[in-house]
Amino acid sequence: MDDRMITGEELAEDEKIESSIRPLSIDEYIGQEDVKQNIKVYIEAAKMRGEALDHVLLYGPPGLGKTTLANIIANELGVNIKTASGPSIEKSGDLAAILSTLEPKDVLFIDEIHRMPSYIEEILYPAMEDFVLDIMVGGEGNSRSIRIDLPPFTLVGATTRAGDLTSPLRDRFGIISKMQYYTVEELVKIVKRTARVFDVPIDEEAALELASRSRGTPRIANRLLKRVRDFALVEGNGIINLEITKKALERLKIDEKGLDDTDHQLLLAIIKKFNGGPVGIESVASSIGEEVTTIEDVYEPYLLQQGFLKRTPRGRVATSLAYEHLKIEYQNDLFG
Ligand SMILES: Nc1ncnc2c1ncn2[C@@H]1O[C@H](COP(=O)(O)OP(=O)(O)OP(=O)(O)O)[C@@H](O)[C@H]1O
Ligand SMILES: [Mg+2]
Repeated sequence: MDDRMITGEELAEDEKIESSIRPLSIDEYIGQEDVKQNIKVYIEAAKMRGEALDHVLLYGPPGLGKTTLANIIANELGVNIKTASGPSIEKSGDLAAILSTLEPKDVLFIDEIHRMPSYIEEILYPAMEDFVLDIMVGGEGNSRSIRIDLPPFTLVGATTRAGDLTSPLRDRFGIISKMQYYTVEELVKIVKRTARVFDVPIDEEAALELASRSRGTPRIANRLLKRVRDFALVEGNGIINLEITKKALERLKIDEKGLDDTDHQLLLAIIKKFNGGPVGIESVASSIGEEVTTIEDVYEPYLLQQGFLKRTPRGRVATSLAYEHLKIEYQNDLFG
């Protein structure tokens, strides 16, 4: 689940599969109805006017389809897409190099845009607003700034943490879309679609089981499907049915609500070591040996959304639902 834990080999395999299961058009993109319907209108309008689409910021938890949507936006506009990630743009020259390859109305996709250095952000402001690039040339003593015109382009930024973006940067996006967790019905469609691409037969009940244990997240649904497919091949008859799905998920230690080992550890730490909370995120993180940002970006949003966890001014609290789910008697009625 934590992408940082994936080895190089797995990543290469993942990328190959990734490109085969990624929807390419907006009509193939399942769910995110509000975001999708609005973006369709903006794309259509930009095409009718013959202009570049306004800059788009996509934000939300990992694996909900931000990168996929960025690529679809470029496809639907009929333009090229250039991709960079926030932390990889280290020098002003890196940004200038990418910007200078853009053709009119192209999409520049910057992933993890909240991790872009602040001096790069400052070069980006005039590029976004007036399509100009101010760069310093010359050496010591005679350095001066020159201005280069850029073609009109669309910046699509993606982030798991919109709160970490500076307000001048956020304000330069004309379109800001929040990605939501997917419903079980939407994930059923995604699971079936991916199974079709893999050419593996899957039962209705099995698709439903997988979908309901995927934490509202297409990336997790696809990943679990891949593992269940392995179990079906080796320990079943190649068909993904309910029985093999349940067995595989048990082996993967994914519970009925889709919570994994780390989720369990996290909730158990709050309950057992900190009396149910409130407890600061740093204390929880160090007690289970995870990074604060991993907990905040990857684990916590789903636990909050499902009502297992609450955020209070004094820290995190495990709810009565968490106790019930972990089959622990609930005693903390102060904050439940
Ligand atoms: N709406 C969708 N319909 C079908 N498949 C989807 C959809 N959204 C995402 N997927 C699939 O889920 C996986 C993850 O999507 P993607 O990489 O776009 O997520 P992300 O939001 O960019 O994640 P991160 O924040 O980690 O970069 C991909 O395999 C993609 O094909
Ligand atoms: Mg992405």
